[in-house]
Amino acid sequence: MAKRILVTGGTGYIGSHTVVELQQAGYEVVIVDNLSNSTAGVLEGITRITGKRPVFDKLDCTDHGAMKALFKKYAFDGIIHFAASKAVGESVQKPLLYYRNNLVSLINLLELMPEHDVKYIVFSSSCTVYGEPDKNPIDENAPIKPASSPYGNTKQINEEIIQDFVHSGAPVKSIILRYFNPIGAHPSAEIGELPLGVPQNLVPYITQTGAGIRQQLSVFGNDYNTPDGSCIRDFINVVDLAKAHVVAIERMLENKSDEKVEIFNLGTGTGLSVLELIGIFEKVSGKPLNYKIVERREGDIEQIWAQPDKANNVLGWKAQETIEDTMASAWKWQQHLLEKEIRSNIR
Ligand code: UD1
Repeated sequence: MAKRILVTGGTGYIGSHTVVELQQAGYEVVIVDNLSNSTAGVLEGITRITGKRPVFDKLDCTDHGAMKALFKKYAFDGIIHFAASKAVGESVQKPLLYYRNNLVSLINLLELMPEHDVKYIVFSSSCTVYGEPDKNPIDENAPIKPASSPYGNTKQINEEIIQDFVHSGAPVKSIILRYFNPIGAHPSAEIGELPLGVPQNLVPYITQTGAGIRQQLSVFGNDYNTPDGSCIRDFINVVDLAKAHVVAIERMLENKSDEKVEIFNLGTGTGLSVLELIGIFEKVSGKPLNYKIVERREGDIEQIWAQPDKANNVLGWKAQETIEDTMASAWKWQQHLLEKEIRSNIR
C-alpha cells in the first residue's frame, strides 16, 4: 500500500514541487495549507503534471483542534513540514506573527505525532541559521550565529525544539534540511514561485523585470568584499531541492539510519554572485536586464555557499540541474504566468 505523507505548506513554492516528486515516487499526499501565501490553483498545476490530485485541506497548522482532527482522519506514515512565514523583512515588522506561526505549527505537529503513532518528520530549515560564515563553503558543523531577524530566529529555535523533543525520548525521528537559495520552477511551467505583491527575493524580481512588470531591478550593493562586489549565494534548483525531501523521508521510513536527528545542507556547492546571476538571466532570456546598483540591504549576508558533501554521500542526493537550465525554467514560468493573466483578462 502506498505510504501516506502529510505535507504542510504543500501549496507553497517548495512544498508544491515536493508534492509533485512525492506523487511521482508513488506516495499518497495530504496537503494542509492556510493559503496565506499561496492559492488553491496550485493544485491544478500539480494535477496536470502528475495526473493525480492530492488531497487538500485548508487548515492552519497553528490550530491544534483542527490538526488533531486531521490526524484522526488520516493515518500518516510521515510528515514534511514546510508551512511557515518566510519574509525576512516582514518578520522584523511583525515578530509575534512569525513566532506564533513558525513555532506553534511545529509544536502542534510534534505533540500530535506520538499520540497518533507518526514517527518521522522532515523539517524545512535554512542556511540563515549560520549567519555570516567564517569560511565558505560552509558545512553542517559550522557554528550557529545569533539570528539577524525574527524569521531566522524561528528557524534556529525550531531546530532546537526538534533536537530537545527527539532527545527527550519521544518516539520521533527527524531530518532537518538547511536550504540555500531555492530558485527556478518545474520544467513544465505548471508550478513555480508565486510571490504576492512586490517580490522580496532576487529571482522573481529579475524575471518580473524581464517581463516588464517591474521597471528596474535594484542590486543591493556592489562594494562587498567579493570579486565583483555583489553578494554571493548558492542558488539551488527547486526541483532538485524537492527531490531531496523524497530521499529524506524514504531514509527514515526505510530505517536507513540509527540517528534520531540528522541535518543536511542542500545546496549546489558553488557560489554565484548577484551580478553573475543577472548575466545568466540575460543569456538564457536573450534580453538585457534593466538594473541599477543601490545601497546595501540591511541584514544581508556578504557571501555564503554550501559544502553539500554530507547530503551527497550520506543521503545520496546531489543537485543535478545547471544554473542556465534553472534560470531558463524561472523565465519560462514567468512567461506562462503572463499568458495566463492575458487569457483571463480577455475572458
Ligand atoms: C533570505 C534568507 C533566507 C530565506 C530567504 C527566503 C538570510 C541570510 N537569507 O535569503 O534564509 O530563506 O530569504 O525569503 O536571511 N537582491 C538584490 N535585489 C533584489 C533582491 C535581492 O540585489 O531585489 C540580492 C540580495 O541583496 C542578496 C541576493 O540578492 O544578496 C539574494 O537575496 P534573496 O533572494 O532575498 O535571498 P536571501 O536574502 O539570500
